[in-house]
Amino acid sequence: MSATDTATNVILLGPPGAGKGTQARILMDKFGLVQLSTGDLLRGAVAAGTDAGKAAKAVMEAGGLVSDDIVIAIVNDRLDEPDVASGVIFDGFPRTVAQAGALDKLLTDKGMSLDVVISMEVDDAAMVERISGRYTCAKCGEGYHDTHKKPAKEGVCDSCGGTEFKRRADDNAETVAERLKAYHAETAPLIAYYSDSGKLKAIDAMADINLVSQSMADALGNG
Ligand code: AP5
Repeated sequence: MSATDTATNVILLGPPGAGKGTQARILMDKFGLVQLSTGDLLRGAVAAGTDAGKAAKAVMEAGGLVSDDIVIAIVNDRLDEPDVASGVIFDGFPRTVAQAGALDKLLTDKGMSLDVVISMEVDDAAMVERISGRYTCAKCGEGYHDTHKKPAKEGVCDSCGGTEFKRRADDNAETVAERLKAYHAETAPLIAYYSDSGKLKAIDAMADINLVSQSMADALGNG
C-alpha cells in the first residue's frame, strides 16, 4: 500500500494502552491515512463544552464508555469531512457491538468500505504501567512514555520542538482498571464479530514499538 493506492480503511482494536494512538500516528506518517480517534474527538468536545462533551465528561473521568448515540454521531460528522478519502484509521472506535453495526451502515451509506481490522494483543498487567507513564506534547500531540519512548533531547518534542507536555486526567491506576473492565465486557466481543467477517488480523502488540509498526505494515499488505 502507498499513499497513492486506493484508500484503505482500518480499525485498530485493543485495550487502553495497547498502542493504538502510537501506531495510528506512525500509519498516518507512513501511508497518509487519517486518524479518527473517538477519544480525541470526545476530549475536544469536553474542552469545547458542547452538549456531547458535557454528557461525556463524567463518564470518561470514571473510565466508562460514553453512550453509543453520542459516539456514533461524532463519527458520522467526522466521516463527512473530505480528508477521509485518503483512508481512515479508526482508533478507539467501534467499542461495542452496536457501534460496529452502526459503522457498517455509515460506511455503506457514505460509499466507503472496511478493509482490515487489526487486533492488538497485549497483557493487561503491562497496560497500567504503559498508561501511567504516558505523556504527550501539548503543541502537536506526539506521544511519549517515561521509560519506553523518551524524546531524543529531554524536554523537547522530537516532532515539533515544543517544550510543554501534558498527561491525561483519566491516566490513573483506578480509572485504568475501570477502562480495562469496560474493554473486556463491551469491546472484546468485537474480536469474534470481525473474525466472522474475515477481516481480522491479530498482531503481538507487546513487542517493541518499531516491531509492532512493522507487523502493522505487514497486516496492511505492505510488509
Ligand atoms: P481513548 O482515548 O480511546 O483511550 P483508550 O482506548 O483507553 O486508549 P489509550 O489512548 O489509553 O491507549 P492507546 O491504545 O492509544 O495507547 P498509546 O498509543 O497512547 O478513550 C478515552 C475514553 O473516551 C474512554 O475511556 C471512553 O470513556 C471514551 N471513549 C472513547 N472512544 C469511545 C467509544 N468508541 N465509545 C464509548 N466511549 C469512548 O500508548 C500508551 C503508552 O504506551 C504511551 O506512552 C506509548 O508511548 C507506550 N507504548 C505504545 N506502544 C508501546 C509498545 N509497543 N511498547 C512499549 N510502550 C508502548
